[in-house]
Amino acid sequence: MSPEPYAAVDIIAAKRDRHELTDPQIDWFVDAYVRNVIAEEQMSAMAMAILLNGMNRREIVRWTKAYIDSGETMDWSALGRPTADKHSTGGVGDKITLPLAPLVAACGVSVPQLSGRGLGHTGGTLDKLESIPGWRANLSNTEMFEVLQKTGAVICAASQTLAPADRRIYALRDVTATVESIPLISASIMSKKIAEGTGALVLDVKVGSGAFMKTVEQARELATTMVGIGNDAGVTTRALLTAMDVPLGRTAGNALEVQESIDVLSGGGPADVVELTITLAREMLEAAGASNTKDPAVALQDGSAMDIWRAMISAQGGDPAAALPTARETHEVLATSDGYLTRLDALAVGMASWRLGAGRARKEDAVQFGAGIQWHVGHGESVVAGQKLFTLHTDESTRFASALEVLTTGYEIGSESEISQRLPLIIDRVL
Ligand code: URA
Repeated sequence: MSPEPYAAVDIIAAKRDRHELTDPQIDWFVDAYVRNVIAEEQMSAMAMAILLNGMNRREIVRWTKAYIDSGETMDWSALGRPTADKHSTGGVGDKITLPLAPLVAACGVSVPQLSGRGLGHTGGTLDKLESIPGWRANLSNTEMFEVLQKTGAVICAASQTLAPADRRIYALRDVTATVESIPLISASIMSKKIAEGTGALVLDVKVGSGAFMKTVEQARELATTMVGIGNDAGVTTRALLTAMDVPLGRTAGNALEVQESIDVLSGGGPADVVELTITLAREMLEAAGASNTKDPAVALQDGSAMDIWRAMISAQGGDPAAALPTARETHEVLATSDGYLTRLDALAVGMASWRLGAGRARKEDAVQFGAGIQWHVGHGESVVAGQKLFTLHTDESTRFASALEVLTTGYEIGSESEISQRLPLIIDRVL
């Protein structure tokens, strides 16, 4: 066995002392961690040094490459069609992937989408889809290819062999307060998307109380970093900064959000969900070099996106016609006065939905498919005393009190002049 070329402690000290790491140092550090030559506490210390002292563009690109090189990469060239994917940094009521993947496929671009499960107050795409009876998230690479070839779109879980370094480092970051680092978030997201083999990528970077990035400036820095990494790796990448101060649509929760997605695919649904879905679809088509095909707004109305949704769900074992699960208990919140909904905070709605059982506290917890919240009145809309504001859904009525405790901090009824300023739905575009 040849001796290791470096001592881990020297590389940690270099980052602690704000030195730039060289490409060979980065390659070795990540590879040695995967080989268990570097201990968990050493990678934890490195993550904290990176969080505190940052990385330059070259270091981030190399750190991302080291994650990619730790596992397999996928290749969809045999499909003979352009491919595009979307990644959202996560938000409350963000069900956009569900209508978006079949919509883009209906416009001529294949969508190989590897998604995750929710942790904390933001929901996970796989948890939502698993509320459809029979639907399977875990596909082999061959099955993924077959679904893509047959339907044009697939949404499934990433295999254990895709960027395994990220999988382990992300778990460490979660318990060492090192999640909120732009270099580490960028490398984590982009390594998985580049390894997934998509030709084009559109990033939906959320901004606001319900998002990772609370300010437009932070979100722009994250978006610019990720767009740079993607384009450097040969994936045509662009980003939209979009609002997450107010929750998206009218529902948060697994089956509730699947139903809202089906409403959008049926040509209806909430205006903000429709607008964001169409905007992201146009970006994906353009990034994939296929903007002269059918317009996404047409594909939502003529049933072609819905046809692909049904085919995609069936191909993964689901029954698109089956009734969705509903929660055993519901609780309504009524307006106590006339006025306007002057504030509706995404984080409070997300936390309340999570406390009702829609999300999980630990990775191994199960989610309740029927749990969540519907808001019957949107931000800035008028209300009269006694009108239904929210319906809370859960299988365990003991959860209502703690959900209401946080929900009541997240909304107010007042006069028209008191309606809070909200972010525009589409804040900016980063190319
Ligand atoms: N999502 C990821 O996959 N990684 C991060 O670091 C943050 C969000």
